[in-house]
Amino acid sequence: MSTKLIAPSLLAADFANLQRDIEMVNQSEADWFHIDIMDGVFVPNISYGMTVLKAITQHTKKLVDVHLMIVDPDRYIKTFAELGSNNLTVHYEACTHLHRTIQAIKAEGMNAGVALNPHTPIHLLEDIIKDIDLICLMSVNPGFGGQSFIENTYSKIKQLKALITKKGAKTKIEIDGGVTDKNAVQLIEAGADVLVAGSYVFKSENPLETIKGLKALANQ
Ligand code: DX5
Ligand code: ZN
Repeated sequence: MSTKLIAPSLLAADFANLQRDIEMVNQSEADWFHIDIMDGVFVPNISYGMTVLKAITQHTKKLVDVHLMIVDPDRYIKTFAELGSNNLTVHYEACTHLHRTIQAIKAEGMNAGVALNPHTPIHLLEDIIKDIDLICLMSVNPGFGGQSFIENTYSKIKQLKALITKKGAKTKIEIDGGVTDKNAVQLIEAGADVLVAGSYVFKSENPLETIKGLKALANQ
């Protein structure tokens, strides 16, 4: 079994102490930095954009996993590559020509990710799964941190895992939203490879220990 990964979401970090929180993740057992970009159109919230991402990637010492919650993401693929993104995830619901978008992301040297809103069925990925490096299953409605986990996610993970196996794909499964120590084990058992956690990590008393605990639960 490959190592299961932990990706703290900086959306829940203290923005007035961003460098401190980035260094904490650098020192921790976390594997990726998860970075949420929101445009106020695709989702009803605006997070941060290119200038902040540029400042962030000057300090990150781990893989940078960028989750774009924006309409028409094709406009910015090159920019996000230049800013230091390693994974670039676009939303299925925001892409008319998803195959073209995925090829464009790969052409810029990044891993291509596709995120699915809670209502978007797995079977829509049937003809594209082999091209995708990472599927981000939203386990909350995107736009905000600190929401509660949607239980139907377990069933979607199992369906996605079955599709990946059937097609002989190498796609990783990432779960995003409401991840805590209460659901981590069940998520991994269902087939998850990467757990994103924002509030659970950054709002805890000892984020370093929280990451360590989550990593241990995911790999027990
Ligand atoms: C939600 C974002 C998530 C969010 C997760 O739109 O995509 O990455 O930061 O936050 P928590 O872990 O607090 O649900
Ligand atoms: Zn996210």
